[in-house]
Amino acid sequence: MSEQLTNQQINEAGHLTIGGVDATKLAAQYQTPLAVYDVSKIRNQIRRFKSVFEDNGVDYAVSYASKAFATIAMYQVIDQEDAHIDVVSGGELYTAIQAGFPMAHVSFHGNNKFQAELEMAVSNHVGVIVLDNFHEIELLNDVLEAHDTSAAVMMRITPGVSAHTHEYISTGQEDSKFGFDLNSGQAAKALQQVLANPRMNMLGIHAHIGSQIFELNGFQMAADKLVEIAADWHAQFGYQPEVINVGGGFGIQYTKDDHPLAPEAFVDAIVKTIKQSASDRGLDMPAVWIEPGRSIAGPAGYSLYTVGSRKDVPGLQSYLTVDGGMGDNIRPALYQAEYEAVLANDPAAKPTETVHLAGKYCESGDILIDNAKLPATKPGDVVAILDTGAYGYSMASNYNRNPRPAVVFVENGESALVVERESYADLTRLDRPYQAK
Ligand SMILES: Cc1ncc(COP(=O)(O)O)c(C=O)c1O
Repeated sequence: MSEQLTNQQINEAGHLTIGGVDATKLAAQYQTPLAVYDVSKIRNQIRRFKSVFEDNGVDYAVSYASKAFATIAMYQVIDQEDAHIDVVSGGELYTAIQAGFPMAHVSFHGNNKFQAELEMAVSNHVGVIVLDNFHEIELLNDVLEAHDTSAAVMMRITPGVSAHTHEYISTGQEDSKFGFDLNSGQAAKALQQVLANPRMNMLGIHAHIGSQIFELNGFQMAADKLVEIAADWHAQFGYQPEVINVGGGFGIQYTKDDHPLAPEAFVDAIVKTIKQSASDRGLDMPAVWIEPGRSIAGPAGYSLYTVGSRKDVPGLQSYLTVDGGMGDNIRPALYQAEYEAVLANDPAAKPTETVHLAGKYCESGDILIDNAKLPATKPGDVVAILDTGAYGYSMASNYNRNPRPAVVFVENGESALVVERESYADLTRLDRPYQAK
């Protein structure tokens, strides 16, 4: 059986359960493709991150990076767990507002926030705007002047630490589109501009070194580097950050080849590094913020699909096709992300064959799992891909004019529809007819 499942997830009928509900029943009730979230896993992961800060007696924020999966229901669960969120667009911010999320707990990220987005952030009093570039400092200043108000800001810097990860999802090294460069002096110049601006309250510094990270040392190096910068800035400009934000990137298990560390291990190493480094440099201990996205949403999510056609060519690996694909999970096609799949009506069945688990989209690269190990299947069977909760639904598209799937939350044996399945009418809702004039 997949390492990502526990015996408790198999019911008396031998079926996969999610949040205490039979996955085959979810598929029958809500149809497939279907994104299902086990809400207790979301809550538990947040609590694990928080507990380490509390044990260490450190001021903190666990700020869920909502790009991983952002819906009204998700924002409500995050708020129920008294965590923060970060948003990267007006659309995520709008969704959080619709969810009634407390704006003081929102950080606004992004490498090209436009004026209307900054207006929206300022007029809704978001907790902190994470400055990314000089253009944004000017834009924000204009917006603050127009509103005759002030805002808390942080500065995102590229600390020159690159964690071991796939190129497309690594963002902390110098040659990156995100943040102020440190070594060329850009970051110090930006700091001076912000400190000189009475409308900006400089809360702290931020770095995000990459994603799906399995080692502590990248975080330790980045944390130490951020304190070193804080000490330099203290000496040069008399400025001490209240917050050091080390971003997200905590790795999760997608397949048996992934061996992630526990959330507690990451937080403990980060907190201890910052404590030590601050004390060595004679700085006050700052609050420590983290921004886990994948590690909160990923393991809680399951994608349910129905098996359809099959192509067998003698001497070649067979293609088994399901009713979803790159439109609801582009990660395998985009950067060769890997997953494991099980049969919903028999997740413990021994695999008997290796197939290409293909999607239904008109694109040869639309393969959800290249070497899926599965028992025998027949059309109509429901397959569950595990750990798809992060960057799956949130990157979904209408490619081939396929409607995006529904999303269901399950907790304590009860399911709830939290995003409706798109209809064909939804697909043409914004289209307008055209006639040459
Ligand atoms: C600034 C920032 N924080 C947090 C995250 C979340 O990373 P992850 O989902 O890997 O935890 C990202 C991901 O791109 C990010 O850019």
